[in-house]
Formats: sequence, C-alpha cells, structure tokens
Amino acid sequence: MEVQPLTIRADADHAIVWENSRLYLLDQRRLPAEECYIELQRADETARAIQDMVVRGAPAIGITAAFGVVLAARAAFQGAGGAWRSAIGPELQILAESRPTAVNLFWALQRMQRLFPEIGDQDPEPALLREAQAIHREDVAANRTLGDLGAELIEAGKSVITHCNAGALATGGYGTALGVIRSAHAKGRIERVFADETRPWLQGSRLTAWELARDEIPVTLLTDGAAASRMARGDIGWVIVGSDRIAANGDVANKIGTYHLAVAARYHGVRVMVAAPTSTIDMSAPSGEEIPIECRNPEEVLSCAGTRVGAFGVDAWNPVFDVTPAALVDAIVTERGVVLSPDRKKIAELMAD
Ligand code: MRU
Repeated sequence: MEVQPLTIRADADHAIVWENSRLYLLDQRRLPAEECYIELQRADETARAIQDMVVRGAPAIGITAAFGVVLAARAAFQGAGGAWRSAIGPELQILAESRPTAVNLFWALQRMQRLFPEIGDQDPEPALLREAQAIHREDVAANRTLGDLGAELIEAGKSVITHCNAGALATGGYGTALGVIRSAHAKGRIERVFADETRPWLQGSRLTAWELARDEIPVTLLTDGAAASRMARGDIGWVIVGSDRIAANGDVANKIGTYHLAVAARYHGVRVMVAAPTSTIDMSAPSGEEIPIECRNPEEVLSCAGTRVGAFGVDAWNPVFDVTPAALVDAIVTERGVVLSPDRKKIAELMAD
C-alpha cells in the first residue's frame, strides 16, 4: 500500500475519505506522531487495512468495508461485466474475514449486498458508492443524536473515564463515547476526561487523547490499572465507552479491560454508559457468550512500539475484547433512544421501533 503526501485535511472527522474514486484512510497506527493517509484501490487492500489496524473501531470498520465493497464491485465488473455478482464473492469473503468481533462490519456488508439484485447486470459502482456514502453519513448523524441523548444523563461537576477510542476516528465522525463526551462538555457537564491508555494498541493514549486535546477538552491519561484508584477518589461520575457488539440481552462486547472497569465502577457507585449506534446491536446473538472474541498475535503484548518488553521465552494471551454483562451496564445510549438497566425485553423494544 502506498502512503500519499497529505493532500486531505487530516483530522479525526476525516479518517475515512472517498476521493478521486479511491479510498483514503488516515493511518491510525501512526498517530499521534504522524498524520498521513493510505490510498486503497482494491478490496483485498481494504481488508488488510482493517486487519492491520490502519482503521479500527466498530462503526469505522463497517464504513470502510462498505467502501471496500465498492472497490470489489468495480473490479468484478471490469473482469466479468454483467456477471459481476458471481465474480465478487471471494472479495466479499476476504472483507468479512478481516476482523470477527465488530458486528458493524457484517451489518454493512449485508446492507451493501441487499442492493445487488436491484442493480442487476449494470455497472454496480454508482449505486454502491451512494449506499456506502449513505452509511457513512448516517453514522455521523447517529453519533450526533446519541451524543446529545447521552449528555442529558450527565450531571455537571464530575469527571468521566473512557476506555480505548470510541471517537471520531472509530466512527464516521464525532464519535460514540466521545460523542457523548463532546456534547456533555459543550454543555459544561464534564470537568475532565480520564482516558485509559488501553494496552496493547494504546488507542487511549494515542487516539482518544489526541482527539480530545485537539478539541481542547481536558484529558488526563491513566494506565489501565489506575482506573479503580481514580474512582476511589470520588470524582468520577460515569464510565463512558463504546461497543463492538451488543447482544440481544444487553451484554456488551468492547475493548479488553471494559469488563474490569465496569466491575470496579459498580463497587465504587460509578455508573456505566455504553454509547453505540443500533448497527452495533446484534439481535442474532442471544447473549455475550455467542459474541466471537478476537484473539490477536501475542507479539502485540510482548512488544511495545516495536521494542520487546516481555521476558524472552514467555507467551502472552491477547484477547482484544471482553464481554461486560448487562447487569453491570446502567445505560445503553443509541440514536433511537436510551435504554436504562438494559435487558432482553428493553433491547427488543428498542430494536422493534
Ligand atoms: O481494536 P479496536 O481499536 O478496533 O477496538 C475498538 C473498540 O473497542 C471501541 O471501543 C469500539 O469499537 C467502539 S468504537 C465507536
């Protein structure tokens, strides 16, 4: 993949850009040191960019995959003409295999594929591009709506803890957890954001802190192990996180470390808010047990920024998501509304609307 000189304005709200019939991704592996884009012209490159964490965060993965379908369809039409729908299969499979946990990926692939029959034998690119751009636009709109809804739950005078990066970078723009934080900060309801650094990829220190500092929202980094001690001081009102997949009973899969944050929050009387669009809710997963949890290369734990930090000869277990039981979640905030103390019945009602 070729790294382009910076021609597009590099900011968190422009992490996924379609321009000149190409897909550009702000390379999140290089932030905050470098702000550069990767140019993609093929679906397999797009899948590799998702797998390699150039782009990450559940809604952002879904949007990127949708543009990947556009690239796949272009190649299939160039190669097979009117038979493009048969030719595109392998590339859709490669996109679907890029990462397993964020359901937004599969949601976006299905939404794109639903258009295939009506496009028929024609050039599929214009219609699929319109759909991918609609998915992108709708995600930003959802984040603005849920950001404002979540902000209403926050009383002024306290700080919040967030984990990983559920910001503009992880979505089409504005962010889910950071969308709530942005809206609440604009209303004067947030004293300070404590951002867990989030080992091993450091999405908190590299990405969340970068986004918040740029928006001049007060942010302090925490090592992941420091969160409970911060709660014990009594100045934290909410833990606010995003999600990669929410099961039908309200169990929440999110970045590894969210579960112990929720356990610590309950002990300290701190409330837990999960901010996510409804594209993150998987009604086909009855509970968190059915959510596939990605386990990545142990090298990600054994090294930090390219330097070996684990003792030689040891192994590492590297699940990158965990499941927080619904009983530890105080609110799930979506663009369709807020679910307090989520359970199966309330989630079904939300999704039925
Ligand atoms: O491994 P990542 O960086 O893709 O994990 C991202 C997260 O866990 C986010 O918290 C989640 O996707 C919500 S993003 C709005």
